[in-house]
Amino acid sequence: MEFEVKVASPEKQRGACVVVGIFESRKLTEAAKVIDETSNGYIKAILSQGDMDGKANATLLLHNVPGMLCKRVLLVGLGKDKEFGDKAFITAMHAVANVFQKSGITDASIFLTDIPVLERDVEWKINQIALIAMGSDYQFNQLKSKPEEKKYSLRKISLGISDRAALAAGKQALLQGVAIAKGMSLAKDLGNLAPNICTPTYLAKQAKDIAKTYKLKATVLEQKDMEKLGMGSLLSVAQGSDQPAKLIALEYYGQTKKEKPVVLVGKGVTFDTGGISLKPSPDMDEMKYDMCGAASVLGTMLAVAEMKLPINLVVIVPATENMPSGSATKPGDVVTSMSGQTIEVLNTDAEGRLILCDALTYADRFKPEVVIDVATLTGACVMALGHVATGLISNDDKLSQDLLNAGEQAADRAWQLPLWDDYQELLKSNFADMANIGGRAAGTITAACFLSRFAKTYRWAHLDIAGTAWKSGKEKGSTGRPVPLLTQYLIAQTKAVN
Ligand code: BES
Ligand code: MN
Ligand code: ZN
Repeated sequence: MEFEVKVASPEKQRGACVVVGIFESRKLTEAAKVIDETSNGYIKAILSQGDMDGKANATLLLHNVPGMLCKRVLLVGLGKDKEFGDKAFITAMHAVANVFQKSGITDASIFLTDIPVLERDVEWKINQIALIAMGSDYQFNQLKSKPEEKKYSLRKISLGISDRAALAAGKQALLQGVAIAKGMSLAKDLGNLAPNICTPTYLAKQAKDIAKTYKLKATVLEQKDMEKLGMGSLLSVAQGSDQPAKLIALEYYGQTKKEKPVVLVGKGVTFDTGGISLKPSPDMDEMKYDMCGAASVLGTMLAVAEMKLPINLVVIVPATENMPSGSATKPGDVVTSMSGQTIEVLNTDAEGRLILCDALTYADRFKPEVVIDVATLTGACVMALGHVATGLISNDDKLSQDLLNAGEQAADRAWQLPLWDDYQELLKSNFADMANIGGRAAGTITAACFLSRFAKTYRWAHLDIAGTAWKSGKEKGSTGRPVPLLTQYLIAQTKAVN
C-alpha cells in the first residue's frame, strides 16, 4: 500500500473516496463542512434524515455527492466532540479500515488529521492512520494451498492536512508509521507460522536475511559455541529437542560505535510443550507463539533499520524448543548458568527464564546503555493484566517510566509490577543458588526476580507479553505487539539525545 501526506482540501479530490468525520449529534468537522458547502447542504440533509448521527463506529458511504469531484464520500462517526481522545480516534480509523475492506475502493483521501484529538498531535494521528490501515490489510496466507482473496482493493491512501507548516513532520510521522507496520507484519508472520516451520534454525535464517537486506552484523551461535561459553541453563532447555538451539544476535549502528547500544532480548521458544513438566494438551498449539518475544525484537530491528534511526541497537534471540524426551531435563536437575550461578530446575515448564538468563549474561559484552527483555513468560501475567497491557518490571525508575510513556504514546500499553526484595525469597532452593520457580503466588514477579539476578550490571527492564502477543478464539493470531511500544521507546531515545 502506498501513502502520502499532502496539503489538500476535500472538495478538490478526484479519487475514489474522500473520508471525513462527523461528531455525535450530527456535528460536522471542518472537512465535512467544506463538503456540505460544496454540495449545497447535501451532507446536513442526509444527516437530518436520520441516516447517521455521528456515533462512534458508525459509517455511511455516499456515492455521487453533488459538486464533488470524487466518486464517494465516506462519513465516519467520531462520538462525542468533547471526549474525542486517542481511543476514539483509533476506533474511528478502524471503522474506516473496515469499510475499505468491504468495498472496491482503490484509493482514498483521508481528512481526519486536522481534527483535534485530546493530548495528541498531528504526527500521532498520521502514525496511527498508517498503522491501522496497514494492520487491517494484514493477511497470513503462506500456509494455505489457495490464498484467500486480498482484503483491500485499496492501493493508495492520501492524508490531507491544511497546515503547510506541519507537512515535514507529517511526512516523517508517516515514514515511521509505515516502518512500524512493516515490523509488526514480520512479527505477526513469525508468530503465526507453524512450529514445524518456524524452528530455531528458521529464526536464525530470518535474522540473517534481515541482516543482509539492511547491512547489519549477524552472529549465530551454535550449540558447541554456547557450550564453550558455559550457557548450561539455555542448553538444559534445548537438550530434550531434536532441533538444534541457536543464539542469534543482530547489531545495528545508526551512531558512532562508541555510543552504547540499547539491547533487546527476545524469548524464542519456538514450541513450548512444558518439557517433562508437560502442559495439558487442549490449546497446546498456542505454544507456537512462545517465540513472540523473539518475533517482536526482530520486528523492531526491521522498523529501526527501515527508519535509519540514529541509535545503536543490538537484538539477541535465544531460540530453542522445549520438548519432553529421554534426554530432556528432569525436575530436580541442577544446571550451571553462564553467570556461574546454579539453578535447580523444579519445573521444566518455567523454561523461558532459563534461556533468557544466559542471553542476559551474554548481553553484557555489548556494554549496553539499557537491556530490555521481551517474553511470553508467565500465564500469571495473563491473569493479572488480561490481554490489554504488557507486564513491565524493571530495576530502573527512569527506564520503566520511559517504557510506560512509549506504550501510552504508541497505544501499546504496559503496566508496572514491583521488583521488591520481599519476592526474591520465594526463589530459595535447598540444593542450588536458586530455584527456577517461586510457587503460584506472584508468578510474573518471581519470574522477573529470577531474571533480575542476571541483570545486575546494567539498567534493565522486562516485558511480559504472555497476554498481549497473540489473540485466541475466532480471530486467533499474532498481534505484532509490542513492536509499537519498543519502536516508540527507541524513537524517543533519539529525541532525548539530540
Ligand atoms: N510460555 C509459558 C507462559 C505462557 C503460558 C504464556 C500461557 C502464555 C500463555 C511459560 O513458559 C510457562 O509455561 N510458564 C509457566 C511458569 C510456571 C511453571 C512457574 C506458567 O506460567 O504456567
Ligand atoms: Mn513453559
Ligand atoms: Zn514458555
